[in-house]
Amino acid sequence: MARVNDNYLKLAAGYLFPEISRRMDVFTSANPDADVIKLGIGDVVLPLGDAVRTAMHDAIDEMATADGFRGYGPSEGYDFLREAIAENDFGSRGVKIDPSEIYASDGSKCDSANIQEIFADDCSLAVSDPVYPVYVDTNVMAGRTGQPDEGGRYAGITYLPCTEESGFMPALPEEPVDLVYLCSPNNPTGTVAPKEELAKWVEWARANEAIILFDAAYERFITEDHLPHSIYEIDGARECAIEFRSFSKTAGFTGIRCAYIVIPEELKGRDSNREQVPVSTLWSRRTNTKFNGISYPVQRGAEAIYSAEGAKEVQANIDYYMANATLIKEGLSKAGFTTFGGVNAPYVWLKTPDGQDSWQFFDNLLSQANVVGTPGSGFGACGEGYFRLSAFGIREKVEEAIERIAKGF
Ligand code: MLT
Repeated sequence: MARVNDNYLKLAAGYLFPEISRRMDVFTSANPDADVIKLGIGDVVLPLGDAVRTAMHDAIDEMATADGFRGYGPSEGYDFLREAIAENDFGSRGVKIDPSEIYASDGSKCDSANIQEIFADDCSLAVSDPVYPVYVDTNVMAGRTGQPDEGGRYAGITYLPCTEESGFMPALPEEPVDLVYLCSPNNPTGTVAPKEELAKWVEWARANEAIILFDAAYERFITEDHLPHSIYEIDGARECAIEFRSFSKTAGFTGIRCAYIVIPEELKGRDSNREQVPVSTLWSRRTNTKFNGISYPVQRGAEAIYSAEGAKEVQANIDYYMANATLIKEGLSKAGFTTFGGVNAPYVWLKTPDGQDSWQFFDNLLSQANVVGTPGSGFGACGEGYFRLSAFGIREKVEEAIERIAKGF
């Protein structure tokens, strides 16, 4: 009988979001008439914009002609998309990224999960706590950790607590680490690292030859002008950081799938002889071996969000979701909850009332108010006693959810 990868057996429980769905299904089976409002997983609800729809239709029509048909595309993405990204997502903010440094993919979840493969098995890593579970679980699967302790923290990972006192910002690691995952705007706390904070990380990474894996999947939700959208807005970041971006939440692509990763030419790691190796060559090799790229119609759809019409449509979606975030934040604050985030991110992070733990609050909220959110403890030990509500909902449902919560339950 084939031996399985024992590392998978270290994973404490099911992945967070399927566990939430499981509990929700149990509840709705027992209460089929309950009108459950879902503000749990950050999944978009607004339909595709016209610019994206038209571009994708046109691409399909093109593929149905002898001249326009395309088979395998470049694994890293078509030039038209990589050029549009470089110009619009970076050039427009004064950041120089070459299209060749951009690798299109089928999602930031996959990218942030897969990136660890190109680093050595004995690389040490640090994560914020609370944290997007994918960063941790994929390193567990790869065997970079020991067993979890009772609080779910794995031996071999450096956890950087993000608490109310620290403004939910992680402190620099006290021990040497090779890789550090940072996420800003942060999932789940909704806070954003200002420039000085990122500059501190870049300086530390360069001094310690560490690499920052910077998840900026939510950067389009930043509303305050002074905040950085990219780690490359910080001098020196090209030598020490990889950035992840996504079309999922901005263009409504959670089902369509398109994202990208940026690996600057200057970014180097070391091989076992301590020789420097460009990280991009390994990622490129991996991509070409394991991936045949995003479909042509999807890449044309992604390109369309940079057209004048597409940009307007994306902005309208973002404004809609951020108006939801404001409603949630203000409604909960009025109802006496302590809230964080929700200003530059589509997530509101709240303190559970009356000392309830995160899952107790989840169960009470579901059974009594019929509202689904995400328990903070699902993101790590420091998330215990907190809860995340997503702003990705239909306005009327969000209003109704907040009304139910405010009434008390
Ligand atoms: C979340 O709710 O945290 C996100 O939707 C998860 C994801 O993007 O994979």
